Amino acid sequence: MTLTCHGLRRRFGALTAVDDVSLSVTAGARHALIGPNGAGKSTLFKLITGLLRSDSGRVSLAGQDVTTASEVRRCRLGISQAMQHASLFPTLSAAENVTLAVRRHEGRISWMPRRQPSIHARTDEVLDQVGLADRGRVQVGALSHGERKQLEVALALACRPKLLLLDEPAAGMSAAERAGLVALIAGLPAEITVLFVEHDLDVVFELADTVTVLNLGRVLLSGDPAAVRASDEVRQAYLGGAR
Ligand SMILES: Nc1ncnc2c1ncn2[C@@H]1O[C@H](COP(=O)(O)OP(=O)(O)OP(=O)(O)O)[C@@H](O)[C@H]1O
Ligand SMILES: [Mg+2]
Repeated sequence: MTLTCHGLRRRFGALTAVDDVSLSVTAGARHALIGPNGAGKSTLFKLITGLLRSDSGRVSLAGQDVTTASEVRRCRLGISQAMQHASLFPTLSAAENVTLAVRRHEGRISWMPRRQPSIHARTDEVLDQVGLADRGRVQVGALSHGERKQLEVALALACRPKLLLLDEPAAGMSAAERAGLVALIAGLPAEITVLFVEHDLDVVFELADTVTVLNLGRVLLSGDPAAVRASDEVRQAYLGGAR
């Protein structure tokens, strides 16, 4: 599903967190959004999901203007986000967390008796999709950090997204966990468009076919990963001149 942002702006008091941002994410893309802390990446995600309203500018999904659409409406159109900060129920099992997300989604899209696989079958399918098939019965509190991040992706997938937003999915992961997550994202069906924020540039350059760099709320550069890696401006603003 294509996503287009045009001239998005969002202020918090005197601070302009997102400043005239235009962004095109093509259907099926693996599009990375990078930039220093405070660049406005998470705020931009919130403007895309509808958690926050923009002061000006437009957001379109698959050509449909959703600038004033609610979060629920955007979710129905196919946007789903895995949260940067865990939204899991720690005393429930991994499977129970997924089941809740599946139920919430099915409840949103239809009140009719479903002809789809049962909620439990769907739960197993989603757990399997993120590599947690044999961890369903484990309480969230007993999962590793990496497994909890996988579970957050599972909750987002429970909504059958067409556009998946991932905010720092690899944050705090060990090298092995990170490799697993990269494989998970790389293995998602091509029809799911993925827009992700990530500080780990190895993950970015491994996964992304397009990279957009934000700095101080503005788009510094958007293009293919090689061009971004080669840019002096990006190096100075973000990569610290090291690469
Ligand atoms: N609700 C809010 N109220 C006031 N200021 C906010 C709010 N949310 C974000 N900000 C400010 O807006 C700026 C952008 O924040 P944002 O969280 O979007 O950055 P980010 O690029 O996601 O950073 P990080 O890489 O640290 O996650 C920051 O200066 C932040 O302090
Ligand atoms: Mg952030």
